[in-house]
Parts: sequence; C-alpha cells; structure tokens
Amino acid sequence: MTFYQGQSLADAVREATAVLTDAGVPSPRVDAELLADHLLGVGLGRLRAMVLGDAPAPDGYRELVEERAGRVPLQHITGVAYFRHLELRVGPGVFIPRPETESVVQLVIDHVSGLPNPKVVDLGTGSGAIAGSIAFEVPGAEVHAVEYSMLAHAWAARNLEPLGVILVEGDLRDALPEHNGTFDVVVSNPPYIPAEAIPTEPEVALHDPPEALYGGGADGMVLPTAAAASAARLLKPGGYFVMEHAEVQAAWIAGMLQRTGRWNNVTTHYDLNGKERATSAILATLSPDE
Ligand SMILES: C[S@@+](CC[C@H](N)C(=O)[O-])C[C@H]1O[C@@H](n2cnc3c(N)ncnc32)[C@H](O)[C@@H]1O
Repeated sequence: MTFYQGQSLADAVREATAVLTDAGVPSPRVDAELLADHLLGVGLGRLRAMVLGDAPAPDGYRELVEERAGRVPLQHITGVAYFRHLELRVGPGVFIPRPETESVVQLVIDHVSGLPNPKVVDLGTGSGAIAGSIAFEVPGAEVHAVEYSMLAHAWAARNLEPLGVILVEGDLRDALPEHNGTFDVVVSNPPYIPAEAIPTEPEVALHDPPEALYGGGADGMVLPTAAAASAARLLKPGGYFVMEHAEVQAAWIAGMLQRTGRWNNVTTHYDLNGKERATSAILATLSPDE
C-alpha cells in the first residue's frame, strides 16, 4: 500500500480503490469513498466534491483500507449498517442486515396497514433490523423480538431499546409461550443456508456468525421449519407469517407449510432482484372439533 499521510484525498481514494480491487472487494470505489467519509464525516456527496478539490487524505485512512482489503466487512469497520430508515450499530458477533430483507419488512408493513396497534414478533432478530424497522415505521405497533445468540442479543438491545421493542434472549423454537395465540404477525429471517453451502465471500464466511447462517441439516431447513411451527403457535387465527429464505428453498417451504394443514394463502414473494426471497401464509382458523 503506497498512500501516506500528506497525500491528497483524490490520490489516496484512487490508490485505495486499486488496493481494494486487487483484494477482490466487490464495490472498491464506493468502499474507498465510504472509508474516507467514515473518517471525515462529511457525507458521500460532499466527500466526492472534496475528491475533485485539493483536500488532504485523512489520518488513519491507510489502516482502514488495509482492514477492508483483508475482507473485513465495511460495516464492521464503520460500526454501522443502514437498513430502510435505520442506522444500526453492528460489529463482530452479529449478522449484517441485507438489502433483500428490506422487502420482507415491506410485506409486514403492507399487511398491517389498517390494523390498529398490531402485535408483531421477529424471530431471530440479529441486529434488530426487522423488528426495529417495524417499530419505527408502524406507529402504535407492539413489537417483540427474540434472539438466541448472547452477542447478537447485545447488539439488538443497543439498537432496539430506543425504539421501544420488547427484546428477549431465547430460542425461537420455544420463546414467548405466554404470548401463544396473540400475535397478528410473525416475521423471521432465520438461518437457512445448507450445511455444505459454505459462502464464498470472506466477509460472510469469516465474519457473519455461523449461528446466523446455517439453518441446520443438509438442506438448511431445520430452523426455518421450527420458525414456521412457532409461528403457528404464536399467531392468532388469521394471523400473518412471513419468512425469508433462499431462492432455491421457495417451493420446499411452500410445500412444508401446505402439508401441515395449518396455513392458507401460501404465497411466494420476490425481492428487488426478481428472486423468490420470502413466503407468507395466513394461519387457518381451527374448526370447533380441533
Ligand atoms: C440470518 S440472521 C437474521 C438476523 C436479522 N433478522 C436480519 O434479518 O438481519 C438469523 C438470526 O437468527 C439467530 N438465531 C439462530 N438460531 C436461533 C434460535 N434457535 N433462536 C433464536 N434466534 C436464533 C441468529 O443468531 C441470527 O441473529
């Protein structure tokens, strides 16, 4: 790495981009700019204007670029992940929220529009991205969140307390028994990656916690199946369940929900890239003899 203190910002960002490109970072120029902005705190628009001028490179830039070239996630370096309207605190031990999950939140928001004070739970909340967004965007919602990992729970507590979300440390398989049959919505982005499908990007393979990635079993379906069973336990009859999954799992999940006989309106939803990313269903009303 050749850039040093005293170098111009323009030269440093150009060289950082080359370093990140060589390291295989997917969006090298933007990451180089965001790292500079992390130090300067001026916002990306102003930073780009500064790059056109003769501003100097900020102190500490080289170290941050070296870290990113080692494929440490950008969000672990800056400590922040942006998700819908939220700026979430993140770091080691918690899953970095992904843009495709934003469309899962939209499904919940669309579903609850018109419901007074909807009661919602997010199973496996991680940083609190889903639960926090619903609390922020749906006035009057009562939002609960469950997280099993102690580390992730600590990040979620930091993000969710200011938003009034009721967070519990627990297992999505048996959490919140005192709330059985009371929720309007159960939403989950559970771990769902099959055991053998180890992600290739170092940011994911080395920095997302394994308990956030692997769903259990060769097909990754143990925890998604458990989340569906918990949804059937936690929802009111007529309540809405929506779960994120991998594109290749859509048909399997729809079939799994249908086979239980507990769900109506099983529907697959696409993300912004046109991938089958989530499945929703409505909990059937039990007949009197059930
Ligand atoms: C794919 S991450 C999703 C995190 C967050 N909901 C999001 O969308 O960014 C799955 C989360 O489920 C948590 N988790 C894994 N097993 C769990 C369990 N048995 N009970 C509750 N949470 C669990 C993981 O620690 C992780 O935070």
